[in-house]
Amino acid sequence: MAIARKIVDFMERSSWIRKMFEEGAALKAQYGADQVCDFTLGNPDVPTPPEVEEELIRIIKEPIPMKYGYMPNAGIPAARQTIADYLKDEQQTEVSADGVIMTCGAGGALNVIFKAILNPGDEIIAPSPYFVEYNFYADNHGGVLKSVAPGPDFSLNLDGIAAAINEKTTAVIINSPNNPSGVIFPAAEIAALGRLLEEKSKEIGRVIYLISDEPYRKLVYDGVAVPPIFPVYRNSIVANSYSKELSLAGERIGYLALHPEADDFRQLVDGFIFANRVLGFVNAPGLMQRLVARCHGTTVDVSTYQRKRDRLYAGLVAAGFEVKKPQGAFYFFPKSPLPDDVEFVRELQKFKVLAVPGSGFAGPGYFRLAYCVDDATIERSLPIFKEVGEKFCRG
Ligand SMILES: Cc1ncc(COP(=O)(O)O)c(C=O)c1O
Repeated sequence: MAIARKIVDFMERSSWIRKMFEEGAALKAQYGADQVCDFTLGNPDVPTPPEVEEELIRIIKEPIPMKYGYMPNAGIPAARQTIADYLKDEQQTEVSADGVIMTCGAGGALNVIFKAILNPGDEIIAPSPYFVEYNFYADNHGGVLKSVAPGPDFSLNLDGIAAAINEKTTAVIINSPNNPSGVIFPAAEIAALGRLLEEKSKEIGRVIYLISDEPYRKLVYDGVAVPPIFPVYRNSIVANSYSKELSLAGERIGYLALHPEADDFRQLVDGFIFANRVLGFVNAPGLMQRLVARCHGTTVDVSTYQRKRDRLYAGLVAAGFEVKKPQGAFYFFPKSPLPDDVEFVRELQKFKVLAVPGSGFAGPGYFRLAYCVDDATIERSLPIFKEVGEKFCRG
């Protein structure tokens, strides 16, 4: 075997999205791409705002010394300062630029955090459903991800989290707005989680970090806001990116921010910077750092996602699907009308609709539809969902 057994095993376990993508590609080749409704990929399709592209062109034309050169591993000071300034508002906390480190997206930020805090066998608790890559990110750094089933309507199950904590627990990772459920954890739940972690850290005699993975923070609807974590818990870290809010997913730009009053702040920051370096990221892409230093605060047109959400939600509900209206991000996570979500997704394929089984997100019994797709796909899918609903939901 050319590659490690563990990687073969991981590839097999993580292959739902890839499998669906490949099977979808075969369907598209057979029937034509415009005949297949592909809801598998969370690739943001609302265009990057024109003023952001114009700013990028300006930066390219400006004479900046060492514009394309190496830089401090933590990033360009102006980008870190801009973000720290914004976080004062967003996290309602006086954030220092020292605690902001520029990363290759939120995925890069999470790997940097995990590398810096995990000892072999340490555990990270993830309320399910969750972004499947967390498993692999934890394993990258010798950690183990422990899944905790959600409360009703995908709320935080605090009793479950409490029961999962033991002396190996290093962090709890939450993701709000959530991929795949679209849920935003309300302020009261976040505050209760903060109190729980405070208590449990004392009980086990070590700090349990709260990591908040927030790449969808700006993609929120109906005026709902994502509550900040810094005011409720000191030993907390935010991971964020511009992949979704500026549709810059391929450019790999994001950041992590450490609470200014976290225990051992300086040592943690130094650990993060070192991890950014030795993971081979070295630093986040320079042009993108300069760009977000000037454009942070701008977002894509979120109303476009909201319109798509509303249209598809109405269609799914009318078809008889049981689905919670997403408050943010760009995914639906309806209940599978068949007990086996994989079987149901295969049934959907027969109608030339591509989705991902909830099992791929530690959420069996559900399936995920990414609605960052063109309007034509949504319109084409509505009569199909009606037909599928008649067959599977009305029994
Ligand atoms: C919940 C979640 N976290 C992190 C990421 C990684 O995003 P980035 O492109 O910022 O690395 C994604 C990407 O889809 C995601 O859905």
